[in-house]
Amino acid sequence: MSSEPLLKVAGVETYYGNIRALAGVDVEVHKGEIVSLIGANGAGKSTLMMTICGSPQARAGKVVFDGEDITQLPTHLIARRRIAQSPEGRRIFPRMTVMENLQMGAGLDDLKYFKEDVEKIFTMFPRLKERQSQRGGTLSGGEQQMLSIGRALMSRPKLLLLDEPSLGLAPLIVKGIFEQIKRLNKEEGLTVFLVEQNAFAALKLSDRAYVMVNGKVTMSGTGKQLLADPSVRAAYLEGGHH
Ligand SMILES: Nc1ncnc2c1ncn2[C@@H]1O[C@H](COP(=O)(O)OP(=O)(O)O)[C@@H](O)[C@H]1O
Ligand SMILES: [Mg+2]
Repeated sequence: MSSEPLLKVAGVETYYGNIRALAGVDVEVHKGEIVSLIGANGAGKSTLMMTICGSPQARAGKVVFDGEDITQLPTHLIARRRIAQSPEGRRIFPRMTVMENLQMGAGLDDLKYFKEDVEKIFTMFPRLKERQSQRGGTLSGGEQQMLSIGRALMSRPKLLLLDEPSLGLAPLIVKGIFEQIKRLNKEEGLTVFLVEQNAFAALKLSDRAYVMVNGKVTMSGTGKQLLADPSVRAAYLEGGHH
């Protein structure tokens, strides 16, 4: 692990009006890691993802990416630093085809890589290749998730943010998607910061993880440590499929 993290979130507070959703969050992600953030519904996980992307912006604290303070940068400039997000609820363009959705994800300066990158995503998710002319809104939930991740990857991100990629999907589909994330991490060194309510799958996949409760990080450790921790097991793992 290098000493300077790729992403450093320090003391971040984010508000919706007067309501404080993040109450001083510290998180670090190093290059080449898969790090996950687990926590109950409403804990502030999506707010942290969105704060990293600059909308809403942090009212206190700092977000540093690749050595640069990006806390006050507008979202489109943060995207240009090669942080790509697959947001909660997938949010693909429903009236555009699969191919058009992938085009939307490609950075304008990188059109020379377009064919190569699309092929890579089609190899990773063959279902998308079969459905390349189909409108996004008519895809199944799993296929939409693949498209959302594929679209994020089209920008050749240095950091991929995934917000609840397993939400509403069958366990077998989740397994396939998580295997692809692991493969990208292993083979291409992709750095991933993952938010999940599906704690078991997330912890198994991750090098390290953080637990968030009410806008604060309450625990951190390796995926293995948290999987074995009795309080984590009681709060997030009992009753899940494993
Ligand atoms: N747009 C918003 N306006 C006001 N409050 C919000 C908004 N989005 C989220 N919140 C509140 O912020 C808190 C954290 O929400 P969120 O980050 O979505 O949690 P999680 O992703 O962990 O489920 C919750 O109390 C939620 O109700
Ligand atoms: Mg959320």
